Amino acid sequence: MDDIFDAIQKSAKRIKDVIDTKDVGYSQKENASGETQLELDIKCDMIIEEEFSRVACINTIASEEKEHAETLHSDGQYFIAYDPLDGSSLIDVNLSVGSIFGIYDGGFGAENMVAACYVVYGPRVEMVFAQNKTKLYLLQAGEFEFVKEIRLNEKGKLMAPGGTQQNWESYHKEMIDGFFKEGYRLRYSGGMVPDLHQILLKGGGLFSYPATSDKPNGKLRRLFEVFPFAFVYKIAGGEATNGHEDLMSLGYAHVHDTSPCFFGSKYETTRVKEVYAKNA
Ligand code: AHG
Ligand code: MN
Ligand code: MN
Repeated sequence: MDDIFDAIQKSAKRIKDVIDTKDVGYSQKENASGETQLELDIKCDMIIEEEFSRVACINTIASEEKEHAETLHSDGQYFIAYDPLDGSSLIDVNLSVGSIFGIYDGGFGAENMVAACYVVYGPRVEMVFAQNKTKLYLLQAGEFEFVKEIRLNEKGKLMAPGGTQQNWESYHKEMIDGFFKEGYRLRYSGGMVPDLHQILLKGGGLFSYPATSDKPNGKLRRLFEVFPFAFVYKIAGGEATNGHEDLMSLGYAHVHDTSPCFFGSKYETTRVKEVYAKNA
């Protein structure tokens, strides 16, 4: 696992460099989710693949930017699914973006997840690594330095409601409105990494990307986005649900499968489960 942690750090430093120096133009290619890839998405994917191919314990990788999983070392123990550059369409407006990694032992699937990690490229570069604790690191003078352990409060103050509101279910809208009436503050950039990072570091709240009429299975991808953040939040003392079930209890049929998702502290996620149970 140390080798993997090390390879993620090396990738993050190289990605930071590429974000700082490379053009943000679109490529001619689409990824498996039908999104036009930026040159940067492709470059960051290559960087991570290159760093992971040097780590013998990594068996197979799956990437948001690759159609299929690829075997690197058939004797390796770990399977890693990653989103090389989440929120890449926010780069041209200079908002924060991130990389997300889910680390699985023996095969993909939430039940095999042993660690999860994400990196935020903002005014500063930070990394959160969750294994038996959720830990924050800051890139300082070229090295990631441990800052602190992160714990969520029982109840927070922030609300990050994703998805197109016009396409929300009416009970979902009522629930979100209810939180705002209770005093929650809107904090939504459109990048799940900085949005979830903010909630995590400010003690709690709720990030949601629900099922909508145009996206009945949500937008966010299970292996690359949903399972890693579910793991990070749960280890930090929060919860992660699709409204009915714990996100970590969900399977997947295809590496690019999506799921509606809610991540937050206990108070807010309990409300989500109550509201969704009534409207099943
Ligand atoms: P990606 O840039 O990897 O394609 O995904 C971005 C994700 C996530 O970061 C964000 O919360 C969500 O897409 C925003 O989706 P909408 O554009 O539907 O708001
Ligand atoms: Mn993404
Ligand atoms: Mn991406």
